Amino acid sequence: MTATRAAVLRVPGTPVTVETLTLAEPRAGEVRVRILASGVCHSDLHVRDGEWPRPTPIAMGHEGAGVVDAVGPGVRSLSVGQPVALSWLVPCGRCRSCRAGRPWACPDSPSFRHRMPDGATVLSAGDGEPVLSYCGIGTMSGATVVPEAAAIPLPDGVDPAVAALIGCCVSTGVGAVLKTADVPVGASVAVIGLGGVGLSCVMGAVLAGAGRIVAIDRVEAKLAVARSMGATHGILAGDDPAATIEALREVTDGGPDVAFEAIGRTDTVELAIECLPLGGTAVLVGMTPFEARASFAVYPLVDGSRRILGSNYGFADPPVDFPRYAALHLHGRLPVERLIDRRIGLDEIEPAFDRLRAGDGLRQVIVFD
Ligand SMILES: NC(=O)c1ccc[n+]([C@@H]2O[C@H](COP(=O)([O-])OP(=O)(O)OC[C@H]3O[C@@H](n4cnc5c(N)ncnc54)[C@H](O)[C@@H]3O)[C@@H](O)[C@H]2O)c1
Ligand SMILES: [Zn+2]
Ligand SMILES: [Zn+2]
Repeated sequence: MTATRAAVLRVPGTPVTVETLTLAEPRAGEVRVRILASGVCHSDLHVRDGEWPRPTPIAMGHEGAGVVDAVGPGVRSLSVGQPVALSWLVPCGRCRSCRAGRPWACPDSPSFRHRMPDGATVLSAGDGEPVLSYCGIGTMSGATVVPEAAAIPLPDGVDPAVAALIGCCVSTGVGAVLKTADVPVGASVAVIGLGGVGLSCVMGAVLAGAGRIVAIDRVEAKLAVARSMGATHGILAGDDPAATIEALREVTDGGPDVAFEAIGRTDTVELAIECLPLGGTAVLVGMTPFEARASFAVYPLVDGSRRILGSNYGFADPPVDFPRYAALHLHGRLPVERLIDRRIGLDEIEPAFDRLRAGDGLRQVIVFD
């Protein structure tokens, strides 16, 4: 048993509290990870604000990295001292998607139950009350116990804050471009929303050799960041989507070949579909509140052979993709460090959620010592 401080959500829509919890020892097939960094992703905010139904009490955080500091019996792929990034989706390995080689589409992952695969919880509060771990990893905690398959070994030399981001926004955004959309060299790309996920789409578009990369946000400073990462154009979005579409069509010769929505709003989802030229593809990466619905004009979609794709976790196969993204970063081709504009302590989580809600700043990362 170890004590750990963790950000815990008890009542959705109310502030998370930092509590001292008890962490169980790793059992067979489990490892304990000392967390060094945990990014604050908008998905955490959706949960915090009660936009996605999730059981509570739950230790928050799903974008984390650290070092293995204890292994349970039978663990062979990891040893103490190994730097790891945590995967928020451990595929079941048995369902139709897993058998078809699409682990990112596994509907039966134990991660979605926020428990270990056998249903156990690893955290408890003072009175013995079980506390769930968000996506089975609960990274906003000084330490966590996870299934061996959730801890993905990374090469030495990756800043833990960068490794944490590989665990969610980088894999989600880069993978949406390289894997889901498989953007061809020279294509024109629009990225709508320039948070950690959208800026990762921009980095992916640069890697793919996209000809034009149009970055769109309602916050002007983010356009400059996107340009510094390789976006060729920036459009400041106002309240009128028609004006954004017109500006986008102007710089992409009639509309982008591929438009990525990286916010999770109905109006920008509709914008991403509406802006497409003949044969264009909208890739939906942002996640809306649970029951939101969007609409589109059916006739031009069919008549113009346009496509709409959903992209979960950037089609990531973490044991394969995390080390690849880490290697690209170490070779200077994936400047993930530029997404990070604030390193904060665990106690600053609520002000961090406020900033994220306001669209203020880039990726905030909680660091632990
Ligand atoms: N598909 C997946 O697997 C997956 C994984 C991680 C995150 N997500 C989702 O991706 C979305 C983005 O996450 P993030 O952490 O990058 O969020 P973020 O809040 O950091 O970024 C959103 C960006 O959108 C901009 N924005 C907001 N409203 C806008 C508007 N009307 N027009 C233009 N720009 C606008 C904001 O200024 C901000 O820069 C969230 O919905 C999150 O839940 C999805
Ligand atoms: Zn995330
Ligand atoms: Zn499965």
